[in-house]
Amino acid sequence: MTITKLGVVGTGTMGNGIAQVAGQTGLDVVAVDIEQEFLARAKEMIEKNLGRMVKKEKIGEADAEKALAQITFTTDYDALRDRELIVEAVTEKPRIKFDTFAKLDELTGAEAILASNTSTISITEIAAHTKRADKVIGMHFMNPVPMMKLVEVIHGLATSEDTHKVVDELAKRMGKAPILVNDYPGFVSNRILMPMINEAVYALMEGVAGVAEIDGVMKLGMAHPMGPLRLADLIGTDVCLAIMEVLHEGLGDSKYRPCPLLRKLVAGGYLGNKTGVGFYDYRVDPKNPTPQEF
Ligand SMILES: NC(=O)c1ccc[n+]([C@@H]2O[C@H](COP(=O)([O-])OP(=O)(O)OC[C@H]3O[C@@H](n4cnc5c(N)ncnc54)[C@H](O)[C@@H]3O)[C@@H](O)[C@H]2O)c1
Repeated sequence: MTITKLGVVGTGTMGNGIAQVAGQTGLDVVAVDIEQEFLARAKEMIEKNLGRMVKKEKIGEADAEKALAQITFTTDYDALRDRELIVEAVTEKPRIKFDTFAKLDELTGAEAILASNTSTISITEIAAHTKRADKVIGMHFMNPVPMMKLVEVIHGLATSEDTHKVVDELAKRMGKAPILVNDYPGFVSNRILMPMINEAVYALMEGVAGVAEIDGVMKLGMAHPMGPLRLADLIGTDVCLAIMEVLHEGLGDSKYRPCPLLRKLVAGGYLGNKTGVGFYDYRVDPKNPTPQEF
């Protein structure tokens, strides 16, 4: 099966990027969120990103218009009924994911593939909330979606080889490089990345160094394009905390305990780029944010 009709559920940081790339690929895209306001923000973000690509002469103006015209933004789940594949990118909370999958399972045709962009939640457990576990798979795009090549594809216990083949082909058509991994907490990407970010927050909390110094060491010394604290802001400190909770619970090892400073930031609404403040303050100059003092 070659996918032409795609659904994207949840149009936040990741969902709008997935919808954009799918639109650029020429797929017929239905993007669903719970509030018009979130959809309007997603559309604005896509317009801005495509506009930037036109300015840099990576694509023509007509391509940008065509890509945007491929996407229907709606709060109506019914618009997903005829979708051949749906990528779920809702908030990283198990209950919300499980309910969303149960709903999509009721709504869509028996042949539709249901993919999750979850960073850590078990694909096998998500699939158990549907009657089509063989057609449930992880399709973990990276942030920012239009720029990052990797799609970590995750096989749940019951995911079929046919489902994998369809998703592999789709990811490649979207200009991505899919890599297949197994279903364990954090998969490969966040099993390795997130403990590093969490350790950077511990180093900050314990006064080993400040925000700029920690990021500076990792950038200049380890050739990371972005320091771990800046990356935490980009990902969203709430998403980072949610991932650490899943690693901690799923692997049962105290080395994965979330740093109390990370919890404090999330509790205070310091979620990073999306709220304008996290480890850095983005409100004055988003491109050159000010490191915060803790
Ligand atoms: N942020 C990252 O860097 C990153 C990277 C890879 C994967 N992910 C994963 O992608 C998923 C989405 O993360 P995000 O950072 O885009 O989150 P986000 O908070 O930016 O966006 C989530 C969106 O889902 C919507 N939503 C919530 N419940 C919904 C429902 N029932 N139906 C439809 N929409 C609903 C919200 O309104 C919001 O717009 C998560 O599973 C996350 O773990 C995030």
